[in-house]
Amino acid sequence: MYPDLSGKVAVVTGGSKGIGNAIARRLSEEKMSVVINYNHDRCGAEETAESLRKAGGNAVAIRADVGTEKGARALLNAAIEHFDTLDVWINNAGIEKQSPTHKLSLEDWNRIINVNLTGVFLGSRTAIKYFLNQRKKGNIINMSSVHQRIPWPTFAHYAASKGGVRLFSETIALEYAKNGIRVNGIAPGAINTPINAEKFSDPNQKQSTLDLIPIDYIGKPEEVAAVAAWLASGESGYVTGATIFVDGGMSLYPEFEEGQG
Ligand code: BGC
Repeated sequence: MYPDLSGKVAVVTGGSKGIGNAIARRLSEEKMSVVINYNHDRCGAEETAESLRKAGGNAVAIRADVGTEKGARALLNAAIEHFDTLDVWINNAGIEKQSPTHKLSLEDWNRIINVNLTGVFLGSRTAIKYFLNQRKKGNIINMSSVHQRIPWPTFAHYAASKGGVRLFSETIALEYAKNGIRVNGIAPGAINTPINAEKFSDPNQKQSTLDLIPIDYIGKPEEVAAVAAWLASGESGYVTGATIFVDGGMSLYPEFEEGQG
């Protein structure tokens, strides 16, 4: 637990399910007030917020498309309106869709880049403006992926968005360090979330993913949330511009495990 988080306010995009949901729950356990959003999944988001409130926390769910300026503004406004301030902004929302690159439509390319990369820009910009105006030390955490480093054929748009998230995060970490704003990334590997549900329901596909994970299990959303809580807290106060890989070793070239090469 991180006592310095108690009473602080976080925006967690994509907080209705998967990793975002685990982060919202963990931050709420840390006694932070949490704003989550939904674009389509209104029930999921409202249920999440309701369950956090039932457990004694402060949480609201609002409709906001993270790929728009209006959506990012709505999230900030909700934080201020309900909880008076903003301390931590977590750009977690992300989508993926498989397609061979020569068949990838411009529409799908734009859709993935819009949520995964433009959404991170818009959310970060909104948070940074607020922190600067308030002369407040702020904290931004951007959800990346092992695919900010590992090429991923048939997911070129996704990999490009995550490579972009990495350098965007590092750049703004440098740009605003002097203002006391920290920016870090988290790069999950294969985590048990709805985004992967279909893939992992097929035992062969699940095994082929497990073959890429030296630690030999599919990660839990809570294991990513634990890193988010640490990055949000003052315990990580000297860390900025970093990306923490939470991937069971997936990014360590597991095919070299026995000294091959
Ligand atoms: C993707 C997952 C995938 C994992 C490892 C993540 O970024 O969202 O679908 O299993 O990378 O390839």
